[in-house]
Amino acid sequence: MKTQLIIPLTLLLAACATGETKVETKVEAAQPKQIEESRAVAKTLATQLGGKLKESINQNGPAQSISVCKEIAPQIAADLSKQTGWQVSRVGTRARNAKTGVPNAWQAEALASFTERMKNGEKADTMEFAQVVTDSTGKHLHYAKAIAIQPVCLTCHGPADTIAEGVKARLITDYPLDQATGYKEGELRGAVVITRPL
Ligand code: HEC
Repeated sequence: MKTQLIIPLTLLLAACATGETKVETKVEAAQPKQIEESRAVAKTLATQLGGKLKESINQNGPAQSISVCKEIAPQIAADLSKQTGWQVSRVGTRARNAKTGVPNAWQAEALASFTERMKNGEKADTMEFAQVVTDSTGKHLHYAKAIAIQPVCLTCHGPADTIAEGVKARLITDYPLDQATGYKEGELRGAVVITRPL
């Protein structure tokens, strides 16, 4: 897997805009070991969630399985955060959960870089991106692992006119601000994101 070193524009702007109390933002390449450790945690989240989701869809149907994404996904992320002491979560290119699914500035840059890399032929499910950033908040490893849309995801993230009525009804009630429909198979859905204090 390839990683790239680019300095997010927003970070540069933030560094310029701090005026007198200027805190210089330093961006460095992440070490291979840091990337490997982060990748393992991201993979654990994806594997555990994917397993629960498939099991639930098979046993209870898609509408009932919304609770897997709603309750179990944040639970798995919270458990991993607790185990590692890092912040582990998921963000979307278009968010369903308006509170937790919207990327921050670094994560938005990571998603933008994934979109660019896909234009150059990389596959959504193999891309990752990591940087060590030092700013006024301290020194952190930022890591993002791209998430691609698989056929099973279309049940709840596909084009609105293909989503079953029961699923649609649950989504409208639980997520009135839902942006996360209209995806196609293979498309970039978002990323598993990790922020790790160093
Ligand atoms: C049964 C319906 C359902 C299926 C199937 C489903 N999702 Fe979701 N997805 C949801 C719900 C509901 C949320 C909001 C969860 C929350 O509140 O944190 C969500 C949130 C997400 C998020 C977090 C960002 C955001 O928009 O809030 C990502 C990333 C995501 N889904 C990816 C996927 C992928 C990839 C698949 C296929 C492997 C998939 N989903 C399958 C219902 C589903």
